[in-house]
Amino acid sequence: MGRADQTAAWSALMALPRDLSLRQLFLQDAARVDRWTISAPGVRADLSKNLIDEAVAQTLMALARERGVEAQRDAMLRGDAINQTEGRAVLHTALRAPEGSTTPFNAAVHEALEAMLAFAEEVRARPIRDVVHMGIGGSDLGPAMAVQALAAEVKPGLRLHFVSNVDGHDLAAVLPLLAPENTLFIVASKTFTTQETLANARAARAWFLAAGGRDVAAHFAATSSNAVAAADFGISRVFGFWDWVGGRYSLWSVIGLPLAIAIGGAAFRRFLAGAHAMDRHFAEAPLEHNLPVQLGLLDVWYRNGLGFSSRSVAPYHQGLRRLPAYLQQLEMESNGKSVDQAGRSLPFATSPVVWGEAGTNGQHAYFQMLHQGTDVIPVEFLLVREPKYAVQPEGELADLLADQHRKLLANGLAQAQALMEGKTTEQALGEVAPTANAQLSLDVLARHRTFSGNRPSTLLLLDRLDAFSLGALIALYEHRVFVSGAIWGINSFDQWGVELGKALCSQLLPRWESASVEGLDPSTAAGLQWAWGR
Ligand code: F6P
Repeated sequence: MGRADQTAAWSALMALPRDLSLRQLFLQDAARVDRWTISAPGVRADLSKNLIDEAVAQTLMALARERGVEAQRDAMLRGDAINQTEGRAVLHTALRAPEGSTTPFNAAVHEALEAMLAFAEEVRARPIRDVVHMGIGGSDLGPAMAVQALAAEVKPGLRLHFVSNVDGHDLAAVLPLLAPENTLFIVASKTFTTQETLANARAARAWFLAAGGRDVAAHFAATSSNAVAAADFGISRVFGFWDWVGGRYSLWSVIGLPLAIAIGGAAFRRFLAGAHAMDRHFAEAPLEHNLPVQLGLLDVWYRNGLGFSSRSVAPYHQGLRRLPAYLQQLEMESNGKSVDQAGRSLPFATSPVVWGEAGTNGQHAYFQMLHQGTDVIPVEFLLVREPKYAVQPEGELADLLADQHRKLLANGLAQAQALMEGKTTEQALGEVAPTANAQLSLDVLARHRTFSGNRPSTLLLLDRLDAFSLGALIALYEHRVFVSGAIWGINSFDQWGVELGKALCSQLLPRWESASVEGLDPSTAAGLQWAWGR
C-alpha cells in the first residue's frame, strides 16, 4: 500500500478551505444537528459543532475508501497478522464475541472466560475485603478506569486497589489498609517481565509473609500470557491469555479479573456484550453512519488538515476521571509512530496528544486556554444523563444530588456552546464587568474579554453509565484509533518506542553498585551523582 499523502483524496483534503465557520455552517443548514448525530450502541454522538462540512465529509469518505479502511478492518476482524512487526494477529474483538460465534479462537476464549469468572465468583464468596491489583500500562489502566466507572455496581464492602508505579510510595500507601487473611493480590502482566509489576509483586509477597500471611497460593493470583514465569514466581492460580491480545487492548481478557471480581460475572458479561455490540456496528454500519469511522476520520482532518496537535477529553462524570489516562495509552501508544507499516518515514503528523480531566474540574484549571489560548484544541465532552450513585440517595439529599446533576450537565453543554459561540469585542463592550479594573480603558478590557469562538467540540452522550455502555464506549475508542491508524498506514499495535528507555534503565541500575559514570553523557552522569548524594 502506498503512503496516505500520495493518494488523490489526501491531496483533495489538503486543498479544501480551512476557514470553516461554525456560525455559518449552522445558518446554512437548519438540520445540521440531525445530519451530524450518529447513534451507535450505548452512545450517541453529536458532531455538529465540529469544523466539517459536506466537502470535508465527502473527501474524508473518499480517503477512507482509497486507504481501504473496510478491507483493513476486515483483515483485523478475521485474524490476519496485521501487527506486522511482531507477526501477530490483533483479535481483542474475539474476546467479546458470544459463545458459538465463528470468530477465531472462540472456544478457547470462552474456556478462559469461564475459568476467570468462576474464580471471580469464588473470590466474591470468600471473606476477601481488599483486592490489590498490580500491573502497569495496559495491565492497569483499563481495569482501574473501569472499576472506577462502575463504582455503583461494585460489591458493597469490597475495596479494589490498583498499584502500578515502581515508586514504592504507591504500594506503601495501600499496605497499611490491608490484613493478609482478607486480601487477594493479583499480579497482572502479559509478559511477566515488566520491572515495575515484578518489583511490586515481590514487595507485596514480602509484606504478606511478614504480616503473618501463610497461604501465598490462596492469596496471590496472576493474569499473564507467560504462565511459566508466573509459576516460577510462585503463583499457582494463573489465568492465561494470548499474544494476539495487545496490552492496551487486554481489558476484555483475564486482565479484566479485578473488574469481574468487583461487579460479578453477569455484569462482566454485559460489559463484553456492549463492546461486542460496538464491534458489530463497526463491522456492519455503512461508513457514513459508522461512529468509529467518522470519529477516526475527523481525527485525521483535525491532525493533518487543520494542524491541531492535541485533543482534550472532558468526561462529565466523576467515575470516568481516569478515562483520559486510559485513552492516552490507547491512542498515543497505538498511533504515536513516525514510520508506516513498510518502514517509510511519514512526512505528516500522526497521533495527537490526548489529555483531559473530569468536568467540571477541568473548567477551573485549563479551560481558560481552551477558550482564549492561541491553539485550537478540539474538546470531547462525555455526558451521562442518568446518574447512579453507590448509595441510593433519599429525601433532601436526593433532591440536592439531582440538582447537582443538572448543574453538571448544564456546565458541559454550556462549555461546548461557549467554545463555539465565543464573544465579540462589541458584545464585551456592551457588558459590565464588575471585577474589572476601572482605571483601564473599556476598549482594552473588552479585548481581554473577547472570545474568538469557532472552537470545535464533540458531544458523546450516554443515557447511563453501566457495564454495557462502558464496554461499548471503550470499543468505540479502540476502533476509532484503528481507523486513523489505518488511514495513516501505521502499525497501531506495536510499541517499540517504549523499549529504549527500558534498556537504558537496566544499564544504569548496576552503576549503583559499580559507582561508575564512565561513558555516560555529562547530564546523565550528573543526575546519577545527584542520586547517589555526591
Ligand atoms: O509500556 C509498554 C508496555 O509493554 C505496554 O504496552 C503494556 O501495556 C505495559 O508495558 C505492561 O506490560 P505487561 O502487561 O507485559 O506487564
